[in-house]
Amino acid sequence: MIYNFGSINIDYVYETQQIVRPGQTISANTRKIFPGGKGLNQSIAMARAGADVTHLGYYGKQDAVFLVELLKEAGVQTYFLEGVDATNGHAFIQVDASGENAIVVFGGTNRMVDEAYVKKVADKIQEGDWVIFQNEMSCTAEMMKEVHRRGGKIVLNPSPFDEDIQTFPLEKVSLFFVNSIEGKALTGEESPETICKAFGEMYPQSAVVLTLGEKGALYCDGIQTIQQPAYKAKVVVDTTGAGDTFTGYFVAGIALGLSEEQALKRAAIAAALSVEKMGAASSIPLLKAVEDREKITSK
Ligand code: RIB
Repeated sequence: MIYNFGSINIDYVYETQQIVRPGQTISANTRKIFPGGKGLNQSIAMARAGADVTHLGYYGKQDAVFLVELLKEAGVQTYFLEGVDATNGHAFIQVDASGENAIVVFGGTNRMVDEAYVKKVADKIQEGDWVIFQNEMSCTAEMMKEVHRRGGKIVLNPSPFDEDIQTFPLEKVSLFFVNSIEGKALTGEESPETICKAFGEMYPQSAVVLTLGEKGALYCDGIQTIQQPAYKAKVVVDTTGAGDTFTGYFVAGIALGLSEEQALKRAAIAAALSVEKMGAASSIPLLKAVEDREKITSK
């Protein structure tokens, strides 16, 4: 079973010509509301990739019941999600004319998750289950310890990166997803190769997927190193959620029995497709679309 101890956000997306600079005021061309949150995006990506996933966490009963409905519609199990009488987490996202973004996240109910909830849901975890984490929830370190104690495998995407990450039990992580900034912050190394090598030395029990934007991704697990080139999107509309799509598709691929190489390829195609549409969760492709694009690109 795959669980996602993950954030659920309402994304307020502003299309602007460029990202606003300090001290500047600019006008937005449009403002749209989308489902988002790194956790929700990853759960939807895993479900669309064909995996069985259960989402764990809190949502705001005042404003975010529609996000729970969306998770259900996507095929994500939501029995252990708890509604709280408070404002849901949300993100303020600017998307510029080139599709690049800048994001400010307000934790809301994601940051209200407490130890009592962790104890309750950790009891469901069984040996061999996978549990995915990001850094948008409270009690993440506590949940990681509970999962490890029960023999679950921890997948960590330490994003957004902050000083809390160093307080997490990183030695218990089985699989890291980091970008080059996070990789550098965790290892002190600069190049993709030295970051991977340092991960191997610091966390010999774990594998790492280092995402490198338009240069693709690098996978290392102490036995093999795989270089995955990025796929070119037909058009770049909005890059928000591309990393979450990649993470979800990769984990789902491994859970469904693909090799690391096959799962990386599928994740890279899914991420490329996701930037062709506006929104984070709304732009995550179905497996059929990923397979169709794979057929075209391998011709
Ligand atoms: O990774 C993209 C996500 O980051 C957005 O959906 C936003 O909600 C923030 O969590």
